[in-house]
Amino acid sequence: MRAVVINEPGDTSVMNMVERPIQKATKTQSVMRIHAFGVHRYEVLTRAGGSPDVKFPRVIGVEAVGEIHEAAADGKFKVGQKVITMMGGLGREVDGSYEEYALIDDANLFPVDYAGDWVTLAQYPENFYTALGSIKSLSLKAGQTLLVRGGTSAVGLSAIKLAKVLGLTVTATSRREEMLPELVKNGADKAVLDRDNALVTTETYDGIIDMVGTVTMADSIAHLSKGGVVTLIGLLAGEWVAKEFSPFTLSDKYLTFFDSTDVQQDLVDEMFSLIAKHHLEIPIAKVFKLADIREAHDYVMASRDMGQVIVDND
Ligand SMILES: NC(=O)c1ccc[n+]([C@@H]2O[C@H](COP(=O)([O-])OP(=O)(O)OC[C@H]3O[C@@H](n4cnc5c(N)ncnc54)[C@H](OP(=O)(O)O)[C@@H]3O)[C@@H](O)[C@H]2O)c1
Repeated sequence: MRAVVINEPGDTSVMNMVERPIQKATKTQSVMRIHAFGVHRYEVLTRAGGSPDVKFPRVIGVEAVGEIHEAAADGKFKVGQKVITMMGGLGREVDGSYEEYALIDDANLFPVDYAGDWVTLAQYPENFYTALGSIKSLSLKAGQTLLVRGGTSAVGLSAIKLAKVLGLTVTATSRREEMLPELVKNGADKAVLDRDNALVTTETYDGIIDMVGTVTMADSIAHLSKGGVVTLIGLLAGEWVAKEFSPFTLSDKYLTFFDSTDVQQDLVDEMFSLIAKHHLEIPIAKVFKLADIREAHDYVMASRDMGQVIVDND
């Protein structure tokens, strides 16, 4: 089988295709045949050496969709069963999705009931899981207002779709004026410009999912209604630490962080039930083959298109 192995961090040239034997299942780990996976900016960061905890050599990639090739001896899976995997150290502490077969802990494999093709399925795991978890972290009720800050990101688009079917009124942001009508076409009720990390609106919201990060956190808090919650989930701006933050701005307001690392089957089930019931999907920006993974990384960083980049392994 083919695997994209990175021996040391660097530019795209460090991603080398190698032939490897398919590993054997263990008592608690199954072998997954990877049919497709999403490619993300945060994986580009890992490849470039921006994830200090990741030790090389490593096959990166935080999520995949596929089927059980060989089941763990003590496990619950059957050969051929459709599964997804994501997070839980995938592509960081253990080899991840940039390969044709992967040995995965059964605890990090989630059976899914999904009738579509593999590439379409690959848009969902990490994007929709993070989006649904973030929305839930806000404890909103139907009829309340949500701001999705970083609305053109794949997670942002997923959050717009899920929030609408949960009965929320959704505003989404972009730094690009020309993307505002696109956000409305993709389901947002309204779209607002995010100019130099300041929202161009005086409106306030019951909940805010902030993907831009520490540089917009104070402005997000300023746009919360009384009793509202901001959940930080990303750092699109690349700043890990807030330079200035006054806790007094949190009077009658709340700040939290959602992290998808510890994936729960019940949230996976709820997400796929909403996807099936409401036919939810986000744009697929471009599909690559595993052999073109270097081009896929370049595209993810350079593209101005909205949507998920996917590698099709078939
Ligand atoms: N907490 C979790 O569990 C979790 C899980 C998954 C992802 N995430 C995070 O969620 C975020 C979104 O991930 P994704 O894969 O969906 O991203 P993505 O699709 O690659 O996002 C692309 C969008 O990011 C915006 N962007 C890029 N650089 C920016 C900057 N410097 N400042 C503000 N916006 C910028 C651009 O929007 P405009 O140009 O239109 O403004 C662009 O359309 C990332 O920060 C990721 O790390 C968190």
